[in-house]
Amino acid sequence: LVASMEQVEETYIMIKPDGVQRGLVGEVISRFEKKGFKLTGLKLFHCPKDLAEEHYKDLKSKSFFPKLIDYITSGPVVCMGWEGIGVVASARKLIGATNPLQAEPGTIRGDLAVQTGRNVVHGSDSPENGKREIALWFKEGELFEWTPVQAPWLT
Ligand code: TYD
Repeated sequence: LVASMEQVEETYIMIKPDGVQRGLVGEVISRFEKKGFKLTGLKLFHCPKDLAEEHYKDLKSKSFFPKLIDYITSGPVVCMGWEGIGVVASARKLIGATNPLQAEPGTIRGDLAVQTGRNVVHGSDSPENGKREIALWFKEGELFEWTPVQAPWLT
């Protein structure tokens, strides 16, 4: 099996305030579900400034950092944990390039967004950051280990 060479990973996916405002929550979740990844955590959450700053700490020196923090804390976001083989890189492909004008059609940003500063969704950029971000955004008891069943309603 080729797939067995790939690792089961977890990634932190977040629908940003513009995605919630525009009614794109179902659309975004649907793309990850249809791909076949497993949802391990899900909540609507208004992010405090200190958490936003910790999440984006690698970008602290960038000129757009203050605006990024204002935007992420401007309204509720949808926080999600997703698990699966190669989910970190695959989610980045599903999301598309940071600048939505450069994101390929078929990707979330390519199909649904125009501005870099309003690009609908976040996805962790490495398995290490996937773990770090899930631990940052979720409390104990908010994440779930579960096994998909084999259609028992048909038997
Ligand atoms: P980054 O981690 O580079 O991109 P990605 O979200 O694709 O991993 O940047 C984080 C967010 O910062 C990005 O989604 C939108 C915002 N941003 C700007 O507002 N302006 C910019 O020039 C860049 C590079 C990012």
